[in-house]
Amino acid sequence: MPIIPTSARGGVITGWGTALPEKILTNDDLSKMMDTSDEWIRERTGIHQRHVGGSTASLSVESGRRAIEMAGVDPLAIDALILSTTTPDRAVPATSARVQHELGLSCGAFDINAACSGFVYGLATAHGLIAMGANKVLLIGTDTLSRITDWTDRNTAILFADGSGAAVIEAVEGPGEMLAWDIAADGSAEPLLYAEIGGFLHMDGKEVFRRAVRIMVDSAQKSLNNAGLSIDDISLVVPHQANTRIIKAACERLGAPLDKTAIVLHRTGNTSSASIPLALFDAVDAGRLQRGDLVLMVGFGAGMTAASSIIRWNGKGLQ
Ligand code: COA
Repeated sequence: MPIIPTSARGGVITGWGTALPEKILTNDDLSKMMDTSDEWIRERTGIHQRHVGGSTASLSVESGRRAIEMAGVDPLAIDALILSTTTPDRAVPATSARVQHELGLSCGAFDINAACSGFVYGLATAHGLIAMGANKVLLIGTDTLSRITDWTDRNTAILFADGSGAAVIEAVEGPGEMLAWDIAADGSAEPLLYAEIGGFLHMDGKEVFRRAVRIMVDSAQKSLNNAGLSIDDISLVVPHQANTRIIKAACERLGAPLDKTAIVLHRTGNTSSASIPLALFDAVDAGRLQRGDLVLMVGFGAGMTAASSIIRWNGKGLQ
């Protein structure tokens, strides 16, 4: 992927918010619905529980409102809304249209679908809009995978869940937070993970696992190279929250210690577009980032897509 021109106008995250449905499904709950067990799910995935419920629009409005409030921006001053989702509420219009209306925005709004890599695709898109003159962009990553999950299929139902994370990104003088980005896709892998319109998710878990580690490492390495950095320069790795074994294998290959990794998967399950913002803002809210720290986000998903980005944390949210 291209190196960011030094002349590009930069942006920084100035507000964020997350949302999870109230209803929690534990592994024990699942073991009453299908032939599985808490022990198996914890051991093979790292997941203990997941949140399910709500619509993509309702969760997006919740996280988006929090992000706007935290940034302290006038909703009418937002220049674009990007909603990353694999689970729109309707085929037409884009779910971002409803979210735009309910948040009181007057700007252009569009959905992007890059599966679980979507938030990072959206982050690159948001910074691209800012480079082209937008002043404030609202980026939301939301998925309600519980609606396209077959709750009798133990192959998929143990993994997927619902959630949302949002960020307000504002233009700044100078280079801004983004040091590098990479987006990738291999459409030949479509049969490995897909859902027909109106249908349930189908997945070849073993092959997805095998490829996930490779494409995460490849994408992360590209961003590191483009930024002229090594993994040792990174304070926090925020990987897509799909399976702790995938996260461990990818971090090991990258040379990133696990204590430098943001993980919420045990509480949330795989929330696709929401997974990276949920993990990132959990780490920020827990005080794990200092001003100037470098953060590497890296995702993978159906498509098969992959995406990574390195940002310099601007210190917002520190006491
Ligand atoms: N509960 C209990 N047993 C289960 C089970 C479940 N939910 N699912 C599978 N099993 C059994 C299998 O039948 C198999 O039994 P056998 O050895 O008697 O044949 C055994 O457990 C191992 O199954 P396997 O499919 O090899 O498990 P795995 O270690 O590959 O784990 C996944 C399965 C789905 C957890 C794992 O492959 C995975 O996470 N893949 C990536 C998926 C992903 O990230 N998707 C989202 C991408 S964004």
